[in-house]
Amino acid sequence: MADPRAELKGICTRALFERVLAAVRTRHGALDRLIVTGDLTHDEQLATYESLRELLLPWLPRLRLIPGNHDHRERMRQAFPERIQPLGQRNVFVEDVGGWRLLGLDSHVPGELHGRLGDEQRAWLDEQLTAHPGPAVVFLHHPPILVGSQWLDRITLQDAPELLALVRRHANVRAVVCGHVHQERTVAEPPAMIFTSPSTGVQFRTETISLEVDPVPPGFRVLELHPDGRIVSWVERVP
Ligand SMILES: [Fe+2]
Repeated sequence: MADPRAELKGICTRALFERVLAAVRTRHGALDRLIVTGDLTHDEQLATYESLRELLLPWLPRLRLIPGNHDHRERMRQAFPERIQPLGQRNVFVEDVGGWRLLGLDSHVPGELHGRLGDEQRAWLDEQLTAHPGPAVVFLHHPPILVGSQWLDRITLQDAPELLALVRRHANVRAVVCGHVHQERTVAEPPAMIFTSPSTGVQFRTETISLEVDPVPPGFRVLELHPDGRIVSWVERVP
């Protein structure tokens, strides 16, 4: 949030984000890409995006970002003009790193908490996967799976069945990596794995009817993408 001391559910999100970022630098300073899957802001203010850019400045050449539900596409572009690839209104990315294709999707729906990719963006994804015969990872904010919490499963990805059908048609997709649910999940959706990641701020308790804060520390997910197409992934917490 624009106010650096602002709290969400009793947690100063800025302070925790800085702590998580410091741990990433200490533990994985040589990583190839840092991918932020949203929500990038809670208040959607330009000042918040500018502060985020300042915090991420050392990572900028290796940084990729996609929006979540609590985001503003135009302000995100204003703050990170050189890091965003526009696809119509949407903020996406595609990049090949070490033989792997990394694809970032934009599931943002203005004014809504749920997500949607839409026909055009799924057609674009289809083309990008067809054009690259090697292994690929797809990133998007809203997971295309249910997590068993009623309040979260009401604000999920609306065209999840279409995305999963597309992923099943492309055997080169090794993983789909998401945020949004503020909790760690690993679900096999052959041939891909679906991974969700913890938040850098407040964590949500699993399998609840309404929002409950989980006192577990914040964290991040690591992806090891091997040249032979193997993927190894785990979550690290930052006390
Ligand atoms: Fe979200």
